[in-house]
Amino acid sequence: MAPERETQETLSNLLREDRRFEPPADLAAAANVTAEAYEEAARDRLGFWERAAERLTWAQRWDTTLDWQPPFAKWFVNGKLNVAYNCVDRHVEAGNGDKVAYHWEGEPGDSRTITYADLQKEVSKAANALTELGVGKGDRVAIYMPMIPELPVSLLACARIGAIHSVVFGGFSATALRSRIDDADAKLVITADGGYRRGAPSALKPTVDEAVKDCESVEHVLVVRRTGQDVEQNERDVWWHDVVERQSDQHTPEPHDAEDPLYILYTSGTTGKPKGILHTTGGYLTQASWTHHAVFDLKPETDIYWCTADIGWVTGHSYIVYGPLANGATSVIYEGTPDTPHRGRFWEIVQKYKVTILYTAPTAIRTFMKWGDDIPAKFDMSSLRVLGSVGEPINPEAYVWYRQHIGAGRTPVVDTWWQTETGAIMISPLPGITAAKPGAAMQPLPGIVADVIDDQAQSVPNGGGGFLVVREPWPSMLRTIWGDDQRYIDTYWSRFDGFYFPGDGAKKDEDGDLWLLGRVDDVMLVSGHNISTTEVESALVSHPKVAEAAVVGATDPVTTQAIVSFVILRGAADEGADIAKELRDHVAKTLGPIAKPRQILIVPELPKTRSGKIMRRLLRDVAENRSIGDVTTLADSSVMNLIAEKLPSAASED
Ligand code: WT7
Repeated sequence: MAPERETQETLSNLLREDRRFEPPADLAAAANVTAEAYEEAARDRLGFWERAAERLTWAQRWDTTLDWQPPFAKWFVNGKLNVAYNCVDRHVEAGNGDKVAYHWEGEPGDSRTITYADLQKEVSKAANALTELGVGKGDRVAIYMPMIPELPVSLLACARIGAIHSVVFGGFSATALRSRIDDADAKLVITADGGYRRGAPSALKPTVDEAVKDCESVEHVLVVRRTGQDVEQNERDVWWHDVVERQSDQHTPEPHDAEDPLYILYTSGTTGKPKGILHTTGGYLTQASWTHHAVFDLKPETDIYWCTADIGWVTGHSYIVYGPLANGATSVIYEGTPDTPHRGRFWEIVQKYKVTILYTAPTAIRTFMKWGDDIPAKFDMSSLRVLGSVGEPINPEAYVWYRQHIGAGRTPVVDTWWQTETGAIMISPLPGITAAKPGAAMQPLPGIVADVIDDQAQSVPNGGGGFLVVREPWPSMLRTIWGDDQRYIDTYWSRFDGFYFPGDGAKKDEDGDLWLLGRVDDVMLVSGHNISTTEVESALVSHPKVAEAAVVGATDPVTTQAIVSFVILRGAADEGADIAKELRDHVAKTLGPIAKPRQILIVPELPKTRSGKIMRRLLRDVAENRSIGDVTTLADSSVMNLIAEKLPSAASED
């Protein structure tokens, strides 16, 4: 019986984790959200989201909460509101104009303090400038900028006038930028001469020049001067300091429809042309704002909140711009990289601004682990009270390291699962309620109905693994793929009838708590078992010498696929002759012999996307001795050479 049942499992559940972290008593006692929220939402999901929407200021109340014509949703039908008013003006009107919205820290050490009153003026001027440049409601504006204050100002100016922004991360190439400009038919591009990265000015304008060459839709390029680098002056170019600065700082925000588009954000996807994920106004702001309030327990009067993401990703849209500003938060924005001018830069910023809530990514956490515990230990980070993680599954060991070495063993860590497509956090512990398990995203938030199902679309029992799905529409869900409803249906709603399928594997542990297991495309088939990359990687990272690991399945004549691991050692660890055997045995002991890697390769770096996700596809090419596939989405193209050099030393045995 047993083996047969096992081979039918959609995804194996191998990792055991017994550690639990109870919420700190003081945090629990004063938490923004209590356990009642789960019951309340379970009893009346739409009523729950209505109350969340009531946290915003509406010019006209909606008449229908949800209009669901699967898979097309409309939330807060006929409601009217202005997103920029909600994020800025209403706080000024409430008497909080002097409150800091952003502490901005430039990489070279320059800084700016922007209050809500300042932001209102800046956004109004920018909105007036956009209007003067002929941008109106529904027009698309491409934004390709460094992390400077004019970036959130640009987003808010678009939102204010109802123009649809499409932010393209500043690390993308001219070709990538052009295809996104074309797909959205953008009328205006907002950029800068450059930004500071790794201690030097890094130009952006030349990339825009190349991207918009012979591009007919673009009427103007609006350029912020940041670095003072020489820029080519083209006919369509206008300087921000010429056009925006002379505008009136008064601007009346018109209410927009709850379902008017707010922005398009392209996800790279693994294949094919990028998908323009479309988000709208009322539902998006409702969920971005409520989740920011709930998941981070944000207290706008006292917290200093810092999300280290780039505004070029959805994390920055929802949790640097819209969520925090809608909540009247004080945030930190940092322009540069964590290792400039030294590897303690993040912790120096935490110390300087007395950051209380920090939201970052597992890739960064594992890098800090690799750099060593002594670096954060030099800084006073006693202000921190909640830590968050997003972007990939966080390995239990990285979670515990984060809690211990950044949070002094006191702070809850919230592992937040969501996607560009979901618009806001979906599955996460709540810091005042959940006894969190390291590595688990735990439970869907109140108002979110998610499940793990097998390939027959049956809910898996506790202890089982399978496909993560969302069973009911949620306010900040994508409405479609820009210009391609059919692709929206095919990509997200066709694999399981009636369910949203995000493409991730997950398991329910014995208590029914959720663990994310990576993309289902990455799952490895070893002797009839579907093994998740995440579990094997987490087992490797739980070895004291390992900082980071990536595993892939490579064709194997005996086992269908065999596990090949790429491992980065921690700062202090040396390679030692027996490290491969030691690590293979460690995995076998932790997860069972089935998960024992065939090969361990010690490498200096891993191939990652620009947002820090490991590109296992390229590692599969290495493991299969194939020529390396498309590397255009790779952040650093020299990495694959470093890995290839390591190949002859591949340690394989048994
Ligand atoms: C994919 C979405 C969400 C903003 C940043 C990424 C993975 C994200 C987690 C997490 C496990 C996670 C998933 C998801 N992911 N957060 N906490 N645990 N996996 O947005 O680029 O759209 O990527 O990132 O695979 O589907 P994105």
